[in-house]
Amino acid sequence: MFSELKKYEVNGTNVWIGKLYKVNNIKQEKPINFHIRPLNKKDAEQMGKLSESIYHYLKNGEECFIHKHTKEYFYEVFNDHKIKYIGVFVGEKLVGMSYIRLCENQKDLQEELPNCEYDFFHNLRNNGKNKIASMGGDSVLPMYRGNSLNTIMINYRIEQAKKLGCTDCTSIVDRKNRWNMGPYFACNFNLFSTAVDPSDGGKISLLHKPMDKESVLSCFKPRISIPYERLEVIDYMISKGFVGIDFDKEKGSVLFAHTQYYNQQNYQSHKNYQMWEIKRRFAKAL
Ligand SMILES: CC(C)(COP(=O)(O)OP(=O)(O)OC[C@H]1O[C@@H](n2cnc3c(N)ncnc32)[C@H](O)[C@@H]1OP(=O)(O)O)[C@@H](O)C(=O)NCCC(=O)NCCS
Repeated sequence: MFSELKKYEVNGTNVWIGKLYKVNNIKQEKPINFHIRPLNKKDAEQMGKLSESIYHYLKNGEECFIHKHTKEYFYEVFNDHKIKYIGVFVGEKLVGMSYIRLCENQKDLQEELPNCEYDFFHNLRNNGKNKIASMGGDSVLPMYRGNSLNTIMINYRIEQAKKLGCTDCTSIVDRKNRWNMGPYFACNFNLFSTAVDPSDGGKISLLHKPMDKESVLSCFKPRISIPYERLEVIDYMISKGFVGIDFDKEKGSVLFAHTQYYNQQNYQSHKNYQMWEIKRRFAKAL
């Protein structure tokens, strides 16, 4: 499906062109062209309509963080230079959209990853120069689902974030939403933590991908599969240094693997302490 994705750069902007093989879940004999590009004020009206449709069709099991917004909201959103929306078009019609929000401090990130305990901004990471692209608003019109459009949008946003000098990408998925786990795992995100959304008490999965590493997994190889609904077991696994790396839609299970990456802060402070101790002893010996 990705083989026919063509990537162009037009005046410094990425434009991707690809083909849709399914419409209304029916395989198309003749695939349909789509393209992805950044959105702008002129798209605000279509964005309002798409937002309304997505909300209209939301059903049980599709709990999510996207809000229903009007065209006026979308018109205004382009005044905020930290938010970048992208859209998927079939011809002139907007059929999918999503955004990245650039976060350069904990306060910005808390709005995107509520109750996230991991400190992405501590100064031992990237010498304190952390810039996070938090992804959100992922939506595809029901009739065009099943073409991996969100996986393609995530990949597009990763490239956009790289160009903007981001060190990390993050996202959240409601723990009842099983449709958006696969796309993030397909793009090498890790389910590194869970949290409670302060706005409604709902449970959320927090996802992360560092830009400078393809994988953060340790050499401890065993993989453990946990049923998706066993939230307490999943929380336990995460507390033991495991992260979710894949989702099996048929079995409804998340695959976990071990990492030390998210203990980095402790690990780094420990290393700093060791260095300090060595220096102290050395100075004493002199
Ligand atoms: C999340 C979302 C963008 C994924 O859309 P997508 O990129 O088209 O999904 P995929 O192509 O990866 O779909 C893989 C499979 O899951 C199915 N699927 C995807 N979303 C589905 C949904 N909401 N309900 C039922 N089935 C869905 C697809 O039909 C496809 O089935 P197949 O393997 O039999 O072909 C889309 O479901 C959506 O817009 N949901 C509503 C808003 C939302 O929940 N956003 C996420 C916020 S966290």
